[in-house]
Amino acid sequence: MAKSKLRSAAWFDTPEYYGFSRKAWLRSEGFGRHIFDGKPIIGICNSWSELNNCNAHLRTVAEAVKRGVWAAGGVPLEFPTMSLGEMFLRPTSMLYRNLMAMDVEESIRGYPMDGVVLLCGCDKTTPAQIMGATSADIPAIVVTGGPMLSGQWRDRKIGAGTDGRKLFDLHRAGKLTDDELCEIEGCIARSAGHCTVMGTASTMASLAEAIGLTLPGCAAIPAPDSRRLEIAERSGYRIVAMVEEDLRPTRILTRQAFENAILIDMAIGGSTNAVVHLLAMARRAGVPLSLDDFDVLSRKAPCLVNVKPSGEYLMEEFFAAGGVPVVIERMLDLLHGDALTVTGKTLAENNSGAQCWSDDVIRPRGNPLSDEGGTAILRGNIAPDGAVLKQTAASPHLMRHRGKVYVFDSYQHMREQIDSPDLPVDENTILVMKSCGPKGAPGFPEWGQIPIPRVLLERGVKDVVRISDARMSGTSFGTVVLHVAPESAIGGPLAAVRTGDEVTLDAPARSLQLHISDEELATRMAAFQAPPPHFTRGYGKLFLEHVTQANLGCDFDFL
Ligand code: FES
Repeated sequence: MAKSKLRSAAWFDTPEYYGFSRKAWLRSEGFGRHIFDGKPIIGICNSWSELNNCNAHLRTVAEAVKRGVWAAGGVPLEFPTMSLGEMFLRPTSMLYRNLMAMDVEESIRGYPMDGVVLLCGCDKTTPAQIMGATSADIPAIVVTGGPMLSGQWRDRKIGAGTDGRKLFDLHRAGKLTDDELCEIEGCIARSAGHCTVMGTASTMASLAEAIGLTLPGCAAIPAPDSRRLEIAERSGYRIVAMVEEDLRPTRILTRQAFENAILIDMAIGGSTNAVVHLLAMARRAGVPLSLDDFDVLSRKAPCLVNVKPSGEYLMEEFFAAGGVPVVIERMLDLLHGDALTVTGKTLAENNSGAQCWSDDVIRPRGNPLSDEGGTAILRGNIAPDGAVLKQTAASPHLMRHRGKVYVFDSYQHMREQIDSPDLPVDENTILVMKSCGPKGAPGFPEWGQIPIPRVLLERGVKDVVRISDARMSGTSFGTVVLHVAPESAIGGPLAAVRTGDEVTLDAPARSLQLHISDEELATRMAAFQAPPPHFTRGYGKLFLEHVTQANLGCDFDFL
């Protein structure tokens, strides 16, 4: 490639001292001078970390990417960024998604690279890298790390997240011993890779593929499978040509591409967190997208993928059945098949003719898991800017439900009370939890799946309606209304709900209504007092001052 066309030429191909010294400093790593003869420099943006088990194998994946880059005539240079380990990062990884996105963006912007390969996996790492790379807007391709192997407990396959929560609840109810729980702890997550249900990580990997940012078939390959390294190698090969073609994220991330991603999100029964991340990604790409788009498209798209928590299987079976290409193939009449992808070809060209190997795992259009997509957008007097319900993971008998409310003022309040033998709740009670939104918790944690109170568990109750301004793990399930906006901590109407009020959830009508008069609601809202800020310095202060609400994607207002 002509050196003058390369972005990296601005660092290396200049006559002054720094042109010389940058070459000398890079050669200190043992490279020969041939790397400056017009080869594109490809950054490998690696979110590897031992504090993030889901991404712990990404150094091996990076080596495969490098092989592909060298083979295609590029020069690969790997660099680290922040890594967000969902299980370990406190108070919640979502507090840091925007920080990681800034790290990725500024690393790309500040360093000499002509294209970038994004290595991600765990929940927030995929949207954070895409957000940052979109803002930097140089040619970029995503390689997700793939799901971990299915858990195996005795004769049962179990999925990290979804089954873990169910089994833990059995232990809480005294139906599993301490020893059995310990045994499960050792076999539920059997390898590196992200959670193996259709949680947020699998969802975002699938959507990165559907939106056109990965090679076809990337999302579902298990993390330890040799084909994961092969697709990484091919991605490394492909990014070199993408530099020549100037195939940047903003050329791929069009309104049509986002509509495709939403439709596939519905078809896979994707995580509710995808709503927040897609909204943020769209804003980075300058594409208008709103919660209403999710609702309109969710009514058009059936749920086809029979993977937990909406269905029965795990990501390994989804991969064996054909993965995302089959879902795209089955949805093509609803999709914008002409959307451009990282292959340089269209979505339809990439996926037409994909073969399905199990019509039970990936259902045909004539036999969907449900007729409507997984994510319903609700509105009402306690959620004027919207709320989200994953209806495919909810209980059918609670989809239209009126009940008396029991309010927890905070997550801590809920933890103190949830196992109380005197908790005044029954199977019709609606549990409401406040102060769990972007600013209230802070950081918008995944606390929305309020555990079933012990008094109800002991009576065999498996689900009740739960409402909060929190998020929920994509691996979770139940009739759980989330992302209520505006959040209670900034005076959203959820703050006005009191124990003993009545609320109606009507999912088919997309409604969430508190049964008090407008005057009474206004009186209660007028009495609202904002809590003191959680942070008065540092990144936390920046977050509190600039994070947007859930219906806008929770990105910073200045990004
Ligand atoms: Fe990383 Fe589940 S903890 S994807």
